[in-house]
Amino acid sequence: MGINVAIDGPSGAGKSTLARKLAEKLKFIYVDTGALYRTIGLYALRNDIDPKDENGVIAALSDIEVEIKFIGGEQHVYLNDEDVSADIRIHEVSNYASLVSAIPAVRQFLFHMQQKMAAEHDVIMDGRDIGTVVLPNADVKIFLTASAEERATRRYEELLSRGQEVSYDQILADVIARDEQDTNRPIAPLKPAENSVIVDTTGNTFDESLALLYKTVTERLEK
Ligand code: DC
Repeated sequence: MGINVAIDGPSGAGKSTLARKLAEKLKFIYVDTGALYRTIGLYALRNDIDPKDENGVIAALSDIEVEIKFIGGEQHVYLNDEDVSADIRIHEVSNYASLVSAIPAVRQFLFHMQQKMAAEHDVIMDGRDIGTVVLPNADVKIFLTASAEERATRRYEELLSRGQEVSYDQILADVIARDEQDTNRPIAPLKPAENSVIVDTTGNTFDESLALLYKTVTERLEK
């Protein structure tokens, strides 16, 4: 059994960049579980499957194989043997991922894959339900959050830097809508796990957040 650190929180709280850096410092594997839901979302988008159509998405699962590989320490995600690591970052895929992730069969489909990785490696795993559902016995559980405005600003800047044309107001509206969807769904809703430490990064620089997260995790791992 590996050492397991679960990091959950809303989109744009800086989870993935912080978790990746933290994993590097601790020499753990970083597993971004959002990428798995994004891969199913991408399949739906590419194949004109309505992500709200539960039966349509469930029927598609038998045609989908998702795989994770680590190349130079970086996670790559494969959809039926195609590396889709870049394609799943397209803005449109975010909403598809959020919608398909509300389908219990989709969560079940990805559940064992996540547990297996945590059993075999020391992992920092980030997502929405890692501390609550996937790794309820994680050694450390963090709930990483920041204000919706700050998260929208970060997402906006990230998309601009990738050359995607987006409006800040639209991004803020999307962040709020996605929080709503992820928090209020009946299955595995986004919420702090029992015994989790809440880390709020509003107003922090990246380095300040990383230092805070590193201190929080290492202190708990030493206990
Ligand atoms: O972290 P992200 O933005 O890449 O995640 C995309 C969507 O996937 C997000 O809206 C919620 C869903 N998700 C989930 O339901 N459970 C996870 N463990 C990770 C992501």
